Amino acid sequence: MNNASPNQAAKQRAGSEEADWFEEWFGEDYLRIYQHRDETEAEHVVELIARVLDGSDIRSVLDLGCGAGRHSRALCERWWTVGLDLSAALLRIARREMPSDPYVRADMRELPFAPRSFDLVVNLFTSFGYFEDDRENERVLVCVAATLREGGTLVIDFLNASEVRTDLVPYDERVENGITIEQTRTISPDDRFVEKTIRLREPGKEYFERVRLLTAKDLQQMLESAGFAIVRRIGDYGGAEWSEHSPRTILFARRR
Ligand SMILES: C[S@@+](CC[C@H](N)C(=O)[O-])C[C@H]1O[C@@H](n2cnc3c(N)ncnc32)[C@H](O)[C@@H]1O
Repeated sequence: MNNASPNQAAKQRAGSEEADWFEEWFGEDYLRIYQHRDETEAEHVVELIARVLDGSDIRSVLDLGCGAGRHSRALCERWWTVGLDLSAALLRIARREMPSDPYVRADMRELPFAPRSFDLVVNLFTSFGYFEDDRENERVLVCVAATLREGGTLVIDFLNASEVRTDLVPYDERVENGITIEQTRTISPDDRFVEKTIRLREPGKEYFERVRLLTAKDLQQMLESAGFAIVRRIGDYGGAEWSEHSPRTILFARRR
């Protein structure tokens, strides 16, 4: 069996052999901690996407960074959908839930699809901005543009950097299924990332998460240079227009 990591090429480009934080964190403990981010929320988000794109010709969808497949399952109800993720543990759960749905293990910087394979690509619940070097984040968008047909849409559901900076909760703790979860959040010393340490006290496990604080304007610029035009900006899962105070930055971008 080939155990080479799908992000081997990216690691070689970065000159590193160490595991990246996102290879270690997105497993079963992640799901345990984010169990409130569930199927109901996912169905809500997919309904919002379907409402905004009503009338568009959509046949094939890629759920990029699908995790355990909560959005893929809702997307599959409407359109033919492929889920893609790097986490073998989360994909195992996705496949167990829906064995007949297609899931692919790959790195979002090396998409294994022919050009113009999809009408819609969705990247949901902050599954972007994980790479230290912005060129790697930009590379994801370039790969997505290549895999979308002309006129196809990318929906990117990202954090709102201005809201994260204003409302950052430096520490909280809660108990879930008898496990005490402590979370510490900071802005990185270089001001580029929001960083989180997640500690499961009783088993004594610790994880790290780091997301690039890209503003709506940064994201728009990155999308435009990758060949997209922004067609809609939404600020929450209810569909409200985006503002500096919105909880989310949800951009609908059309491939030119
Ligand atoms: C915050 S989770 C969201 C998962 C899913 N969209 C959801 O809402 O349940 C981010 C996902 O991105 C995946 N991911 C992280 N880095 C990746 C990469 N380089 N290539 C592909 N997927 C990646 C993780 O494994 C994880 O499943």
